[in-house]
Amino acid sequence: MCYFRKQEWCLVLELLLLPVISGLQDHSELEINAKTGSNITLQFFEKPLGTYTHITWLYTTKQKILEYAYKGTETTYAGYRGRVNLDNITGALQIYNIQKEDKGDYYMRVLKKSEEEYKKILNVFDPVSQPTIKIEKTENLPDSCHLILSCKGEQQNVTYTWFDDSGLLPQNEEADVLERIITPKNKSTFYTCQVSNPISRKNDTMYFTPPCTLARSSGERWIATWLVIMAPIIHTFLLT
Ligand SMILES: *[C@@H]1O[C@H](CO)[C@@H](O)[C@H](O)[C@H]1NC(C)=O
Ligand SMILES: *[C@@H]1O[C@H](CO)[C@@H](O)[C@H](O)[C@H]1NC(C)=O
Ligand SMILES: *[C@@H]1O[C@H](CO)[C@@H](O)[C@H](O)[C@H]1NC(C)=O
Repeated sequence: MCYFRKQEWCLVLELLLLPVISGLQDHSELEINAKTGSNITLQFFEKPLGTYTHITWLYTTKQKILEYAYKGTETTYAGYRGRVNLDNITGALQIYNIQKEDKGDYYMRVLKKSEEEYKKILNVFDPVSQPTIKIEKTENLPDSCHLILSCKGEQQNVTYTWFDDSGLLPQNEEADVLERIITPKNKSTFYTCQVSNPISRKNDTMYFTPPCTLARSSGERWIATWLVIMAPIIHTFLLT
């Protein structure tokens, strides 16, 4: 439900909605975002399930992953042998080495007096690749400058966000392109493009001498690092 779970409003929203949506479930986020190659745990309850006779985990409603008869046999089905592990106290299912093909709907069915069914949706993402900002256009006009930057990356289903001196910039339609008319009033010394998906984010920054003269790009980050390291040393040196 919430991509950026750390944000407080998101937590508040979840706390407000959870009891309504999920009744007594503890771990009731419907959607899980996982990184390709990671291990995940599909879990609805933190506490023991209590008395039950049977658990079935399914991928979609058609394909069985695992069945467990309480204090009896555990059967793991083809495609999942060696890849899954059931916690028979809470009913949680661990799946190792998640791949793109694993995305979809998962169901846990617990047979108590009657059969209860719980659902989770798994989304699988690769980490985003490193973006590179390119200057598409700089045009010096009287008292201003027309600047177009693009943020290139070989990826789909990612979110592009731009930042400058003033912080987060409003989103435009073509999110991987930033077009600015820069005046002394809204000049900036840098532009950062951040590429993100629910499991990762990376950014690139280009530095400018306002309005539109390229100072350096983040490839030359070492200069800044060097200054950060050297400044206190020089400072100390001057004081002694
Ligand atoms: C996933 O779990 C396996 C088995 O416990 C472990 O060897 C492996 O390092 C884990 N992988 C990750 C990405 O945590
Ligand atoms: C900067 O200010 C100028 C003049 O007020 C305006 O035309 C331009 O759209 C502004 N640019 C941005 C990127 O806000
Ligand atoms: C860009 O990435 C660096 C390193 O990962 C991080 O420290 C920085 O906060 C990021 N900047 C933005 C604006 O997201």
